[in-house]
Amino acid sequence: MIRVSRGPSDELGPGDVTGLLHACHTKIRASLAEARLLAKAKEWDERHRASARAVHDYFAIAFPLHVEDEDERIGPELLEHFGVEKGPLLFELHDEHARTDELRLLLLSDWARWCHEPGLASRGHQHVLKRFARSTEVHLFREEAVLFPLIDALPEPTRVTIARAMRSARQKGVSAGPPRPA
Ligand SMILES: [Fe+2]
Ligand SMILES: [Fe+2]
Repeated sequence: MIRVSRGPSDELGPGDVTGLLHACHTKIRASLAEARLLAKAKEWDERHRASARAVHDYFAIAFPLHVEDEDERIGPELLEHFGVEKGPLLFELHDEHARTDELRLLLLSDWARWCHEPGLASRGHQHVLKRFARSTEVHLFREEAVLFPLIDALPEPTRVTIARAMRSARQKGVSAGPPRPA
């Protein structure tokens, strides 16, 4: 069981952008752990089907919202506040998003199929999942070390605006349900 490192998003302050992002990272790590368990399954029953649905929906709906937060709602504000000096870092993080997205798309088709039929993971699936999980986990640690402190240093009104946009993006999601961390 992976522990939530910060409180639920509803309990966070209005400008606690990194609190929202930490909650997302916790869900990403939990979903990767579930995907790994699914890939090891030797038998298949209703619980596996439900797990495949949860993993698929997380990486199809919520995960892209988290990437959007960083690339579109946070990155431009950091550039504006800190200047082009932070451009290379933001570009590298954006590039890591793009590279892991290719792997995510490969995995999604398996998870979608496993919602309806037994799915014993192929070696190809296990290989792609390993690369996806490893690169994502390295990326999350890097963001927590170098990106989050920059976000925390943004002026409070800017952080409130970003957090409001993050919550609003989730409310607009058809399947994402009520505001929640991605
Ligand atoms: Fe990211
Ligand atoms: Fe992130």
